[in-house]
Amino acid sequence: MQIVNTAQALSQALENQSAIAFVPTMGNLHAGHIQLVELAKSKNACVVVSIFVNPLQFGQNEDLSQYPRTLDDDLEKLRAAGADVVFTPSEQEIYPDFDVETNATHQNITINLPKLANELCGEVRPGHFSGVATVVLKLFNLVFFNGAKTKIAIFGKKDFQQLFIIQDMVKALNLPIEIIAGDTKRESDGLAMSSRNGYLTPAQRLEAPRLYRALGLLVDAIKQGRTDFSVLETQTTQFLTQLGWIVDYISIRSAASMQPAASSDRKLVVLGAARQGNTRLIDNIEFTLPA
Ligand code: PAJ
Repeated sequence: MQIVNTAQALSQALENQSAIAFVPTMGNLHAGHIQLVELAKSKNACVVVSIFVNPLQFGQNEDLSQYPRTLDDDLEKLRAAGADVVFTPSEQEIYPDFDVETNATHQNITINLPKLANELCGEVRPGHFSGVATVVLKLFNLVFFNGAKTKIAIFGKKDFQQLFIIQDMVKALNLPIEIIAGDTKRESDGLAMSSRNGYLTPAQRLEAPRLYRALGLLVDAIKQGRTDFSVLETQTTQFLTQLGWIVDYISIRSAASMQPAASSDRKLVVLGAARQGNTRLIDNIEFTLPA
């Protein structure tokens, strides 16, 4: 496994590769990330993983400085999973004008996204998805534009809105990259694995799987024929709020368009974001209703 931290070294490492499968991450890797690496391995391509905590996607009062950084452990896991190249750039490598004091990237050219980027997670985290899309496009350019014929990038369904926005960007900008979606890996009690689960106190950790269970109950109600979606969203929000959660949103959407679901939609996704103390958890369930 080669570890490179500059664009130039990355370019050299990938010089003769005809097929690349790329998994972008922010590190603090868990079994969910590794499952994406295994999916990349199954593509018979050179597996590239990036580890970069992207300042551009964090808001002013968010957890950029506390975000867990566990590089040695991450590299061990990636070696065991069979990654070929790991790209661990510095902030300056990705943002040449990066200011260490203020974390300002001075990246003035960014990706402008459609309305969806300001909804759901984007409503609570203004600018977040533009920061994600911008760094992902930069990483795509660094990883793929060395001539590899097969270009695959893998994202998790755990971040459904992110996955949707990246797929949309790839289409809109004619990027010759195949996006593959990996399933959400969960703990045995249903909690979606996340680097942020480490912030939970033992009591919050016990309560945390409730978000997934509440989304599951919502899915059951829709499968039983309920189409009063906004009532269902409010009921689930109230249910979690009564249990001490601070709910950012519970939303029932078309999985194909990410627009609020209509009763005629068959492919749906229920999405939720809610906080236990200062820790914000997100989850979603995609499902299909009979035609
Ligand atoms: P990060 O949160 O590290 O996630 C990296 C990838 O792992 C994303 O595609 C995410 O959806 C996926 N992932 C996270 N938890 C998962 C789980 N439990 N099961 C399956 N996949 C999971 O998402 C980001 O980083 C960043 O926004 C990034 C795309 C790297 C841009 O900075």
